[in-house]
Amino acid sequence: MCGIVGYIGGKQAAPLLLKGLEKLEYRGYDSAGLAVVNEGEIIVKKARGRLLMLEEMTEYGACVDGRLGIGHTRWATHGEPNDVNSHPHLSLSGRVALVHNGIVENYAELRSFLSEEGYTFVSDTDTEVVVQLIDHYYRGDPASAVRKAAEQLRGSFALGIVFADRPDLFIALRKDSPLVVGLGRGENFIASDVPALLAHTRQIIRLGELEMAVVTREGVTVYDHFGVKVEHEVLNITWDAASAEKGGYEHFMLKEIMEQPEAFRRTVAPRIKDDGTIELGLQKLSDDALRSLERIYIVACGSSYHVGMVARYAIERMARVPVTVSLASEFRYDNPMIGSETLVIIISQSGETLDTLFALREAKERGARVLSIVNVVGSSIAVESTDVLYTWAGPEIAVATTKAYSTQLALMQLFTIYLARVRGKLTDNEAKAEVNALLATPDRLSALLKDTSDLQFLASLYFNRRDIFFMGRNIDYALALEGSLKLKEISYIHSEAYAAGELKHGTISLIEPGTLVIALCTGASLHEKMISNIREVKARGATVIALTTTPIYIDPEHPNANPDHVIYLPDCGELCAPSLTVVPLQLLAYYVALLKGCDIDKPRNLAKCVTVE
Ligand code: M6R
Repeated sequence: MCGIVGYIGGKQAAPLLLKGLEKLEYRGYDSAGLAVVNEGEIIVKKARGRLLMLEEMTEYGACVDGRLGIGHTRWATHGEPNDVNSHPHLSLSGRVALVHNGIVENYAELRSFLSEEGYTFVSDTDTEVVVQLIDHYYRGDPASAVRKAAEQLRGSFALGIVFADRPDLFIALRKDSPLVVGLGRGENFIASDVPALLAHTRQIIRLGELEMAVVTREGVTVYDHFGVKVEHEVLNITWDAASAEKGGYEHFMLKEIMEQPEAFRRTVAPRIKDDGTIELGLQKLSDDALRSLERIYIVACGSSYHVGMVARYAIERMARVPVTVSLASEFRYDNPMIGSETLVIIISQSGETLDTLFALREAKERGARVLSIVNVVGSSIAVESTDVLYTWAGPEIAVATTKAYSTQLALMQLFTIYLARVRGKLTDNEAKAEVNALLATPDRLSALLKDTSDLQFLASLYFNRRDIFFMGRNIDYALALEGSLKLKEISYIHSEAYAAGELKHGTISLIEPGTLVIALCTGASLHEKMISNIREVKARGATVIALTTTPIYIDPEHPNANPDHVIYLPDCGELCAPSLTVVPLQLLAYYVALLKGCDIDKPRNLAKCVTVE
């Protein structure tokens, strides 16, 4: 959601900024722009649409001179996506230009204050208010003007700011929205995310809340909210640039689906000791704390929330702790009944989803301990939690999550076994058997991914359907929600998921001849119930694809009652089943979207990292 890059150094800035923005395209955007400082002037170029428009307009940056600049991809919030509303925004005087990610909530109030001061506005954005406000305070000291303006802002913001009369520096500042600083030799950078920097440096600093960086060619100085210098640990990014490239695949999504066995292994194996016991490496949450907790809340958004739903079943069954799963956007306004006896588990790939971050803060304010399951090292959620467990999925670029989802599942499975063991609900041997099943999962995933032809074939049969329904019971219901989300977000086919037993309480009226229903029946104990539900929709003319681990009896007497297609999955036990079930759902969504010619890695209206409420 909005991408920011910034550069100062000895090279021409514009081509470098455009390359950086290319690496942030996955975040989702509808316009792009850049501002470069040259000979006392700020040159701004921006265009609605794909980055390519801006690249063509600027001859891939070649026709914009200057060695200091900022760039932006915009995901519209205030004001429609058009050239004028695109970033960077230039102040009325032409002295300041700025890019912004986030939402300024009190922009209307600030706009009327600035109007009284004689400022006029050309765009409908909240961002333009910020650039005029900085201009208003600017008397030759960029840091002081930015600080004064920031004190007046409410909401969330990551900002990159350049000044026409300061070719020697630019400023970056953040609150509730991610921003990293890249450290080079004789050149320095900022970006919303690491992939934009990898071609130049692996040394990065993650700016903390309300921290400001003054970036020059020679170095970067970071200040806190009060203007006091802050020393930051410099993180060394170990994954190579290639892991954020497509590596021969047509789409990142397919690449990331295929990377799941390795990502799963990376997340689980290092946490298993030679004797088969688990070492989570929790820093602050002791075994005693896990023994004494009375309830667990799992809070997340989207697919991460679906992982939470799967985990609820597992934790309640295996560790016998009551679990509530909450959507982060609801949790905050729910007056949740939590306190020091509650463990709140936050799940987030990016570690920057704003709703989830705010839910975390709410939980901490209420006295709960917070354990986060996060993919991006050093992200806001990771930093602000009591304890963090990292999924080691590597960079995930496609908007539709696949390998991050799988590693979140893996980590939650591992945590469940650990919790159950600590609370005496599993014997050593039972825990080891569960661990062995987890360790065997990557090979099972590889076997599943070896041949995708069945799913390509099914996609070719059904890619032009208008509606596709998913149904399942218990854990399979949580998987049905994920399968449906995956399909709709990238193929734009209307899809819904239902708890199979609920169909006859309303939904079944939507089933008509030819409606495609994907029935998940991997839970052995609910197999017969699912078969009845399949028959109910078949009786109304539905076409059914069943996913199962248990053989389905095909009734030769009543061919119309049988599922039309059956996908068999290996039986790996209840805890590990979701890790396998999700794979055909991901592949089906992918191939359907491919046949429909959709923009798979960057679906319309969506962003990889949702940094607005
Ligand atoms: O980064 P997060 O895990 O916090 O993101 C949460 C959701 O936005 C995310 O899972 C979203 O639903 C995915 N695009 C689904 O594929």
